[in-house]
Amino acid sequence: MPDALCPVLLAALPRYNAPHGQGRLILQSTRVLVFAGSIRTGALSAKLAAIAARELAVQDAEVTLISLADYPLPLYNGDDEARSGIPDNALKLARLIEAQQGVFISTPEYNHSLPPLLKNAIDWVSRIKPGKGPDYRYRLFALGGTSDGFIGGARAVVDLRKVLAYGLKAIIMPDQITVSKAKVAFDEAGNFTDPAPAAQLKLVCEKLIETIRRMRG
Ligand SMILES: Cc1cc2nc3c(=O)[nH]c(=O)nc-3n(C[C@H](O)[C@H](O)[C@H](O)COP(=O)(O)O)c2cc1C
Repeated sequence: MPDALCPVLLAALPRYNAPHGQGRLILQSTRVLVFAGSIRTGALSAKLAAIAARELAVQDAEVTLISLADYPLPLYNGDDEARSGIPDNALKLARLIEAQQGVFISTPEYNHSLPPLLKNAIDWVSRIKPGKGPDYRYRLFALGGTSDGFIGGARAVVDLRKVLAYGLKAIIMPDQITVSKAKVAFDEAGNFTDPAPAAQLKLVCEKLIETIRRMRG
């Protein structure tokens, strides 16, 4: 009987779980949303997001890779919010975050910080109050940065941590990847040209998935 088997199966197969004692076994997939903070054609941050999506899928996550180009939002203005409420695309983004257990964001660096496209999307989502829409808070995030300089977008990642923690009540992984000299860091097929960032990204993805599974219990 499934009920009797559950403790054994749960111990042996941690990715399986029994929902609310119904005695039915379901596969619990690890769902991760991936996107970049740039919609520029050929964006370096989008290349990092694409590799992260592939790596997470290799590690058995169910990956949803999106582009913010598909969720255009007006520049936040409190008058617009008072007049028209939260735009549909902000609600859609919040629903996507709500539906995942993890989120990987890859950000470019603009003037030592995150770009306005990404900040604006986070600002709009953060305006959805608890109980008034999708429950996007307390999700686990892992971050990456890209820059053609030596710092690899690290300053943007620092600011992104702060904004996500405050705005989305995000839980943010300590492990991160910053890709320096990003213009030469990717080959034509969209892979890393150097093994070091590939190894770091693998670690970031492993830690994210491992932490999601541990938090799920
Ligand atoms: C307004 C602006 C500010 C920038 N500031 C920085 C910066 O502070 N540090 C840096 O490494 N690169 C900076 N850059 C260069 C961008 O990181 C670079 O254009 C990058 O390729 C943009 O990201 P993407 O390729 O993902 O679109 C800046 C670019 C722009 C347009």
